[in-house]
Amino acid sequence: MKIELHVNGKFYSLDTNPDAFLLDILRELGFTSVRRGCDTGSCGACSVLVDGKPVLSCCYLAVRAQNHEITTVEGLGEEADKITEYIINEGADQCGYCGPALVVTTYALKQEIPNPTEEQIKQYLVGNYCRCSGYEGQMRGIKKYLGVE
Ligand code: FES
Repeated sequence: MKIELHVNGKFYSLDTNPDAFLLDILRELGFTSVRRGCDTGSCGACSVLVDGKPVLSCCYLAVRAQNHEITTVEGLGEEADKITEYIINEGADQCGYCGPALVVTTYALKQEIPNPTEEQIKQYLVGNYCRCSGYEGQMRGIKKYLGVE
């Protein structure tokens, strides 16, 4: 079937299966920041934004994303660099596999909850697993980015 997706401000027309997941389509389109971790909706590595809200693209049918704005880390431009720098400055960059998903989710958090508490940050990011950092450095960097340290 033919679908049209709006990714990072640009339209893409493609021919795909009705049961294709957004993760696979985005990677085929070249958005390789969208990572496959567990492929079962548990790790958060595949997170992207749909209309500004984080979704797990490994469990989200591409067809559902039609007529919605999809944002990957590539679409956040300098804001992604800024978030990443805060995290790096706290020594929490490590392998980087979960990084793009963490960055887009942090960006969505900032838009949705101004001045969040630490508990709200943890709740928002609870689905983004990191196997290297232990989360403490990430939390420091994210709090600094959000201006709530
Ligand atoms: Fe989608 Fe793990 S790859 S949640």
